[in-house]
Amino acid sequence: MSHPLDPLSAAELGEVCAVLRAEGLLGGPRLLSMLQLEEPPKDAVRAWQPGETLPRVARATLWDGAEQLVRIALVEVGGGVLNVQEAPGALASILALECQRAKDAVLRDERLHAALARRGITDLDTVHIEAWSFGSEVPKGIDATRRLVWTPMWLRPEPDSNVYAHPIEGLRTIVDLDSCEVLRVEEDEDSPPIPMTPGPYRADQTKAEVRLRDLAITQKDGPSFTVDGWGIRWERWRLRVGFDQREGLVLHDVRFDDGGRERPIAYRMSIAELVIPYGDKAPGAQRKQAFDTGEFSLGNFTNSLALGCDCLGEIVYLDVAVADALGNVREIPQAICMHEEDYGILWKHTDQNDHVEVRRSRRFVVSSIVTVNNYEYGYFWYLYQDGSIEFEAKLTGIVLTTAGEPGAPTPSATALEPGLLAPYHQHIFCARLDLDIDGGPNTLVEVESEPLPPGPLNPEGSSYTLRQTVLTRESTAQREVNPFTGRYWKVVNREVTGHLGAPVAYKLVPGRVTWPMASPESVIGRRAGFMYHHLWATPNRRDERYPAGEFPYQHPGGAGLPEWTAADRSLEDTDLVLWHVFGTNHIPRVEDWPVMSVERTGFMLLPVGFFGRNPGIDVAPPGSHCH
Ligand code: CO
Repeated sequence: MSHPLDPLSAAELGEVCAVLRAEGLLGGPRLLSMLQLEEPPKDAVRAWQPGETLPRVARATLWDGAEQLVRIALVEVGGGVLNVQEAPGALASILALECQRAKDAVLRDERLHAALARRGITDLDTVHIEAWSFGSEVPKGIDATRRLVWTPMWLRPEPDSNVYAHPIEGLRTIVDLDSCEVLRVEEDEDSPPIPMTPGPYRADQTKAEVRLRDLAITQKDGPSFTVDGWGIRWERWRLRVGFDQREGLVLHDVRFDDGGRERPIAYRMSIAELVIPYGDKAPGAQRKQAFDTGEFSLGNFTNSLALGCDCLGEIVYLDVAVADALGNVREIPQAICMHEEDYGILWKHTDQNDHVEVRRSRRFVVSSIVTVNNYEYGYFWYLYQDGSIEFEAKLTGIVLTTAGEPGAPTPSATALEPGLLAPYHQHIFCARLDLDIDGGPNTLVEVESEPLPPGPLNPEGSSYTLRQTVLTRESTAQREVNPFTGRYWKVVNREVTGHLGAPVAYKLVPGRVTWPMASPESVIGRRAGFMYHHLWATPNRRDERYPAGEFPYQHPGGAGLPEWTAADRSLEDTDLVLWHVFGTNHIPRVEDWPVMSVERTGFMLLPVGFFGRNPGIDVAPPGSHCH
């Protein structure tokens, strides 16, 4: 049974692409940049009943390389084109096909051949080239209104070498994505030698043999969740899994069954942007500053996951499908992994007469992993038996490398091997959290702990209380974490009272956050203005989807959250969207090489007065000897 929020199936994508071709919107210089589900309005989804049919509409973002124009076409599956709009001045995100064409053009360029030969490289098969968006000023003399890439390169001495061990520093090209013209071959006068210490990590190279005994995770009766299409029921939770070509994994309509009443908590939750500003002045780092979501559409790079490798235990997978630049549909089998994990204890108490009560914590995990060039990102959502929700990003893969003179000072990079450098950088995520606590409307409240004034309320100097501030408008809801006051933010439904008459709420508990090192006036600072607050809030608008704007590619900056919130709209008793900015400041360690172990960042959503007591109290003991 299909649901209005189900991702577009391979068949639906194929049908839409056929319509786009037949209408002349796709073909020749007209490429498909993204094909997304145009989600129906929330009211329509809320009113929808199983068995009813809502129109299935796809939103196609098309790039016309000849006219240098973005068109957005809404296409009804089975019903043809509904609407075509132009987005003048917008540049479409980079496409895998274009990357390949750009790299092919670079490899044919005789100026590059000569520059490589000066470095002793004559076999072009040993050169690994990547096409990156421009994250810094476009050099003078190059038309910045064109869609451009620049191409760092690495040497691959052997077919299975870790190329990132061998950056070819001081040699780059700039390519016009649409004409495929190599506009410039940049060669620095003094470039360091190519580092030649290998960085092997494959098992056949490392001969890794540290082993432990087998660990089997089995559930003889199968997992405790049920899957109906994209709808999931686990424990008292109900949710729908979604997928988007740009954002990757999405969760919809998350509810908790509270004594037979399915109470809405979140309508839609996704990671709406991920930007990686680099903090090194080396040309090979300065231009990076990539938006992996907004410029690369990371959903395209979703891995097919392998049982026993990526995921362990009783796994249920979901397959997804994406459409490429030419409108060819590609299925990604086993793209989303769902399973249960034992997560230690949920709670425990030993009372005065030595009576013990203890409960295991089981959590439901839905996850996916993408590979964007050198890095892997895992998106993991966890649901817990006490009503808590957690998001965790897992960062792994290979750090990006540049080269320097062996032994020279490296103020903004870690030396990994002689001459091999890993520039400092940050991974900055922005979650878009359309929460609907008990269906809404919702209001945002900041909560801080503060000492009470000395006197009758605080006779001994150790009494403290909470200060609760309603963040009434967009301007007042631009906030940073503050561990000194234990600051958190709660989303309150003032129309629904819970236990003891207080309004029900969930709170956002920040985890690992970072602060942008780039100045707000820098190119990346302007383009990723959302980085400068850990929390933003807006009234829900369907066209406000991405915190750096819809079209960040070579955008001069200011789009997205900074632009929308300038209107300073009211946030009280509204359909509230939280934007939470979090991430890591990655100062690479030598131990991050040759491949980095998973590093984590994320946040939690916890009930605060949503339930009348700990919902974990209803969890049965794991065995008769545990109570
Ligand atoms: Co990193």
